Amino acid sequence: MSGEVLLRGSGLTRRWGGLTAVSRVTLELERGTVHAVIGTNGAGKSTLINMLSGEIPPSEGRVELLGQDVTGWSQPRRARAGLGRSYQRTTVFPNFTVLENCRLAAQARKPRPWRWWQDASRCPDSVPVAHEAAVRAGLQHLLDREAGLLSHGQKRQLEIAMCLATAPQVLLLDEPLAGMGAEETERMLALLAELRAGHAILLVEHDMDAVFRVADRITVMVNGAVIASDTPQAVRSSAEVQAAYLGGH
Ligand SMILES: Nc1ncnc2c1ncn2[C@@H]1O[C@H](COP(=O)(O)OP(=O)(O)OP(=O)(O)O)[C@@H](O)[C@H]1O
Ligand SMILES: [Mg+2]
Repeated sequence: MSGEVLLRGSGLTRRWGGLTAVSRVTLELERGTVHAVIGTNGAGKSTLINMLSGEIPPSEGRVELLGQDVTGWSQPRRARAGLGRSYQRTTVFPNFTVLENCRLAAQARKPRPWRWWQDASRCPDSVPVAHEAAVRAGLQHLLDREAGLLSHGQKRQLEIAMCLATAPQVLLLDEPLAGMGAEETERMLALLAELRAGHAILLVEHDMDAVFRVADRITVMVNGAVIASDTPQAVRSSAEVQAAYLGGH
């Protein structure tokens, strides 16, 4: 179903000492949509993702996941409840294969401590989940490749696969297109467009062409605050956004 709010951040604020990195940000992520968050370096985008995912606690504000207040929940607990994320820097395990990386991610969803060094056969249900996630992310031909040998774009695809292996309903993606070539970018955009149907996706991205192609909604941050949150057309024609961020785009 489209239009259902899966994740809501309300009045989220994060202070680092005297610096307010994120200031009273409210946003809703709906199933069936890609919601882009854009802004210059240091605008607070990653800090916002980190508060939504549970990586860091907000100084103020609250986070609701599937209608439940999860503000006090840890990141693993939120992940088990359906909140997946990828990081601005690549975070794959280089000495494990594509499939093994996905399996580790799938096992991380389990509520009890898991032993990632044990043989996969001891955790048999994570293998098909891992396999499906890797295939969904377009890595079916690279399942046995060591992650450290993948191209940059393939590593980012693997990160999406690892995120999918946790069976999320919400995907928080921090610059998944960074450093990608044109072909890899196209592949990732096609994947995001495909994943949109069943998920709510938050996309932090600097590539404006990509953002305007894939986003259903765009939130613009400047110095930690939201200056616009609207359809791509409305954001593109906003004089305030033009002046503060987009320039001639
Ligand atoms: N752990 C931290 N301690 C202190 N200051 C921090 C910390 N993390 C982020 N900041 C500061 O908070 C502000 C927002 O940073 P953040 O990483 O959220 O920006 P961003 O929008 O993701 O930038 P970029 O586009 O470069 O990734 C910056 O001024 C940054 O220096
Ligand atoms: Mg960032």
